[in-house]
Amino acid sequence: MTRRTILTGGAALAGAAMSPPFTAAAVEKETSPSRNVVVRLTVNGHMRELELDPRTTILDALREDLKLTGTKKGCDQGQCGACTVHIEGERVLSCLTLAVAAQGLRIDTIEGLSPTEGPLHPMQQAFIDQDAFQCGYCTPGQIMSAVACVREGHADTDADIREYMSGNLCRCGAYPNIVAAIKQARPHLDKT
Ligand code: FES
Ligand code: FES
Repeated sequence: MTRRTILTGGAALAGAAMSPPFTAAAVEKETSPSRNVVVRLTVNGHMRELELDPRTTILDALREDLKLTGTKKGCDQGQCGACTVHIEGERVLSCLTLAVAAQGLRIDTIEGLSPTEGPLHPMQQAFIDQDAFQCGYCTPGQIMSAVACVREGHADTDADIREYMSGNLCRCGAYPNIVAAIKQARPHLDKT
């Protein structure tokens, strides 16, 4: 197999020929749509009823069906933290959690962190004050994770903050400012 084969997609066909589980029929079966189900989600205090493929993640339900695009899709495989939301107050990677599994549970997203007409949440304000973002793509996930980090009691020292925020990646490298923001907001948040 050459690099050219890989780059032009020939690698997938070559793999399929060598490996029966990856035949076109198997792939089609694996990816064919399944029957939709009714899913009731409580998002930011509002009950929402959706018809979803049972394989839909919370992330896709939020972004594609509810148009709540504040929660970001970075890697879609549990590695970057951009998709962090709270379920029952605990931080969760929404790209790894099925929407059907969250029925009856409280989901909070970045859109629900502060009232539409009103002051920002202390963590949001601290990110602004401390210049804790550049492009901003990771920021909703950082903020949701930071709020949970303080609530968990994992933000007492700089080392703790770095450790317990290590699941949230920032390609712009705003890490020192993120630590500063969490320290600014820390006294204003309740621990659970
Ligand atoms: S999009 Fe969920 S962890 Fe990266
Ligand atoms: S601010 Fe750009 S990825 Fe974090």
